[in-house]
Amino acid sequence: MPLVPSYIKTLANYIPGKPIEDVQRELGLKNIIKLASNENSMGPSPLALEAIQKSMKLTHRYPDSSGYNLRKKLSENYNVKLDNVVLGAGSEGIMSTIMRTFLLQDDEIITAKNSFIGFRVLANASGRKVHWVPMKNYRYDLKAMSEKINEYTKIIYIANPDNPMGTYITREEFDDFYKIVPERVLIILDEAYFEYAQKEKNFPDSMKYRYDNIITLRTFSKVYGLAGVRIGYGFAHESLIRNLMKVKVPFEPSFLAQVSGFSALEDKLFIDKSLKLNGEGMNYLYENFSKLNVRVVPSVANFVTTVWNSPKQAKSIFEKLLKKGIIVRHLNSFGWTDCLRVSIGLKEENKRLIECLKSIV
Ligand SMILES: Cc1ncc(COP(=O)(O)O)c(C=O)c1O
Repeated sequence: MPLVPSYIKTLANYIPGKPIEDVQRELGLKNIIKLASNENSMGPSPLALEAIQKSMKLTHRYPDSSGYNLRKKLSENYNVKLDNVVLGAGSEGIMSTIMRTFLLQDDEIITAKNSFIGFRVLANASGRKVHWVPMKNYRYDLKAMSEKINEYTKIIYIANPDNPMGTYITREEFDDFYKIVPERVLIILDEAYFEYAQKEKNFPDSMKYRYDNIITLRTFSKVYGLAGVRIGYGFAHESLIRNLMKVKVPFEPSFLAQVSGFSALEDKLFIDKSLKLNGEGMNYLYENFSKLNVRVVPSVANFVTTVWNSPKQAKSIFEKLLKKGIIVRHLNSFGWTDCLRVSIGLKEENKRLIECLKSIV
């Protein structure tokens, strides 16, 4: 028996956006801006930060493994029962628990090809058969996905909005799709960018559905600015949550993650400011990309993907921007080799990006 299963041996590493420290070290640059990982450019929620500072002196204690305070607050905010809420070390932590909880030996997974890499890694690491369904016009192709459903289907994963395209499936599209999915199939609706997308009238807020076989995943990593502390949450039927709670890593998420999430939920001012800045930044980038004849995929999230003439051109633009101290994301590891994804930055960051692009293209 080989020590490492073949599906782990062939697994590709998760490649994150380039960290600022790497670019500093490799290129000897100082003034670097990172627009590569869809983080909140404004920084962390100030209320969350304050809560972390106050709680630091208690870090010798194990956290509340059930995450009672934060789950209670989320249940009140979203008008569901405590038993409908689960927490994790980021929404990816919950995805990982889902995979370990529900998949049997012969179960299969259906999702879109070239969508969120975090899920791709988890799906491949599970060793189960995965149907990777190509996207159509940079969007999830729900019809093609529904055609893959068979008696072995256990999990369908949908990132809505999608990362890296920022496109979304509409309420109507989801309603039609849902009718076809058998009740025994678990649908993961990953709404990491929900706060940005909710302004779209036909965006399907899955909290309004509350079907027994849907699990909604959300995160504090994006608009709340807490990607570094790893805290996410999910809502589902209590029978699903009960079992996830048994399988999740004990004491996940950390104490500081739990308290920061709790306070971030109260930081309405910061959320409003972040959403406003994002909207303005997105408009500014659209306008200026258009002036530079740079093609974009219209996005409802906190990033926008640009499409270049060839993988070679995309790589070259990526490298030239890097040399000027701007980190964007070349989407080759996602499978979109001709695309660069740009997170919406602060006003001055967006401006610097456009100025640099002007000198390059
Ligand atoms: C679609 C999607 N889901 C989940 C995540 C990860 O969220 P978290 O930091 O909560 O694990 C991301 C982060 O980029 C994402 O784009």
